[in-house]
Amino acid sequence: MRVIIQPDAGAVAEKGAKVIADLVRSKPNAVLGLATGGTVVRCYEELIRIARAENLDFSQVRTFNLDEYVGLDDDHSQSYHRFMREHLFNHLNFNLDHCLVPDGMTQDYEAYCDWYEDQIRRAGGIDLQLLGIGRDGHIAFNEPGSSLGSRTRLKTLTQETIEDNARFFGSADAVPRLAITMGVGTILESRRCLMLATGSSKAAAVGAMVEGPVTAQVTASALQLHRDVTLVIDAEAASWLRRRMYYQQVEEAERSLTTTRREPAR
Ligand code: F6R
Repeated sequence: MRVIIQPDAGAVAEKGAKVIADLVRSKPNAVLGLATGGTVVRCYEELIRIARAENLDFSQVRTFNLDEYVGLDDDHSQSYHRFMREHLFNHLNFNLDHCLVPDGMTQDYEAYCDWYEDQIRRAGGIDLQLLGIGRDGHIAFNEPGSSLGSRTRLKTLTQETIEDNARFFGSADAVPRLAITMGVGTILESRRCLMLATGSSKAAAVGAMVEGPVTAQVTASALQLHRDVTLVIDAEAASWLRRRMYYQQVEEAERSLTTTRREPAR
């Protein structure tokens, strides 16, 4: 796992957006796995800025979102469908027919979740999966105890997640109790994962994910088994990492290598 520690949340957003923009530039028909939540908002803003500045084309990009609340229709102010339109899709030339967010209004969850998995497979799999992390260590809505081999399915939210997301709904009572979420196994099949985390409230979860054991109690820890994960965090989110000095040394070494490669001795 590559751990990149940035000074602040703005720099995390910039780095994250650059990774996504680099992929779309080199592969215009890339398949992106996308996330919602407070952390990714600035990353999407930065991506929009880069894309406009460079005229980046998103018309062939396909996207699959991680999750959606059960019982919220597409236009509900807190649905992830709406979040994606407002924070990303409406601002660039995405083909909305190629942008899938799980349907929280489906009546047949099992068949729908199988269909969603099948759509990912038919698209050729996810090239880059963007992720945030919950305070309870979840990725997508894979709450503690989720199978590390799980696929897209219905999941009950923990009280911690409900309380964290109450800020968007006005009160904890208004937060749906269930969500459709990609599984940990689905996420592990993506070719590359990019996780962003900022702020001291994420420090314990980030510490457990990177340096703790692989356990279903911290589903993000399953990313230790993935061969290509980039974690971009700010100094506060990095504060529980015992080896943070080492991760910074690795980045410095990487930078000097890149510089040497770019500027051959004259
Ligand atoms: C959202 C998602 C969640 C969030 C996580 C962090 O699609 O899958 O796992 O990434 O809950 O949310 P924020 O960024 O609001 O702290």
